[in-house]
Amino acid sequence: MRCFEARPTTHVSGALTVPGDKSISHRALMLAGIAEGRSEVSGFLASEDCLATLAAMRALGVLIDAHSASDVSIHGVGLRGLQAASHDLDMGNAGTAMRLFTGLLAAQPFESRLVGDASLMKRPMERVAKPLREMGAEVHTHNGTPPVLIGASRGLHGIDYRMPMASAQVKSAVLLAALYADGATSVLAPGVSRDHSERMLAGCGVRLDIEGLRIVLRPPQRLAAFKLNVPGDFSSAAFFIVAGLLGAAGDGLLLQNVGINPTRTGLLEVLRRMGADIEVLNARDSGKEPVADLQIRNSRLRGIAVPPELVPLAIDEFPILFIAAACASGETVVTGAEELRVKESDRIAAMSAGFRALGVSHSVLPDGMRVQGRSDGAVFSGGTVDSCGDHRIAMSFGIASLRAAAPIIIRDVANVATSFPGFVNLARAAGLDLIESEGD
Ligand code: S3P
Repeated sequence: MRCFEARPTTHVSGALTVPGDKSISHRALMLAGIAEGRSEVSGFLASEDCLATLAAMRALGVLIDAHSASDVSIHGVGLRGLQAASHDLDMGNAGTAMRLFTGLLAAQPFESRLVGDASLMKRPMERVAKPLREMGAEVHTHNGTPPVLIGASRGLHGIDYRMPMASAQVKSAVLLAALYADGATSVLAPGVSRDHSERMLAGCGVRLDIEGLRIVLRPPQRLAAFKLNVPGDFSSAAFFIVAGLLGAAGDGLLLQNVGINPTRTGLLEVLRRMGADIEVLNARDSGKEPVADLQIRNSRLRGIAVPPELVPLAIDEFPILFIAAACASGETVVTGAEELRVKESDRIAAMSAGFRALGVSHSVLPDGMRVQGRSDGAVFSGGTVDSCGDHRIAMSFGIASLRAAAPIIIRDVANVATSFPGFVNLARAAGLDLIESEGD
């Protein structure tokens, strides 16, 4: 089993560029694949999750040239041009791929079967299957989890869907199916979630009417091919944002070309309320997405009650936010985050187990956690923690080494490659003493 050994260090510095955005990379492959003509994507994230989407699009008949790991050309086959795959489509660890493909494939005139790794095979899929069935699709799950079997579509109709949770994956799955419906589809969400699908669909010429939390999509005749430069993934930058707050030397740590789509940057708001010194520099647009450089300075953090409405805007950042909370004076309380229980791991349970191993006072809530932090000295005792096969848990405990009294061994870290290839090298370049090895 792959393990990290994260030895105590106190300082990070320099200028870093994190790899491309995972959510945007998945969507770029799917939309370019059903567009007309050739799309060019640079800054593509060649992580295991996105490569699963790439392999699936190829299996569905889309020609994709990879000029380098991060530059790909996609030869779109048009809305009606996908062909049945000759085998199961393996989504690996990628929940986004499985849920978005369920939407896209529910509208195709052929059958598909979606499978994934042990973690993905346990994740809930009825949340996408249900609205798709309302549209007339044939979607079967196995007691709510994968494999997902999708029957050949005999045509979908538009629906007015009220989502029970603020999920970008559910929203996007319905919007992808809605491209093929016989009339308009509306999706109403209970809260804001990432809007990359809406931005990219609009960039392909699809008409979307967005009013507050309601989106109406009218099926287009065609999608236009596009050129896209994928920004750095804010969720990957998040590990280094917290690393900089805990240990930036001098002028701080500079993170270049980070996506700052406001539906993704809830962590910035939460950390600022905790006293973080984060400067947004050189804000600009990269296509339809806002990007900036982030200057992170060493900061003394204090605990807060995280406003529940910020939870969907920081949904992937809670593991690293819990590390920041442990290093903040006083108590941090997270509630309204029950979705954390159905991510790549149960992230509340996984972080709690790690905190127990490293001597951090906390208590678990059904929908969050209370963390009693301290802003000085060594916060983490050192010891062995388990990532529970979850990339973000693994990387978060790597960053904890900036406040550790002794080395932290993190077990089962191969999954880091699902979202952040090169994490170890970048962490080392910033000054962390992190090594990866085969352990038991
Ligand atoms: C994602 C949406 C989020 C997030 C996931 C990526 C996406 O999931 O946790 O990592 O790309 O749409 P939910 O929409 O289920 O909250």
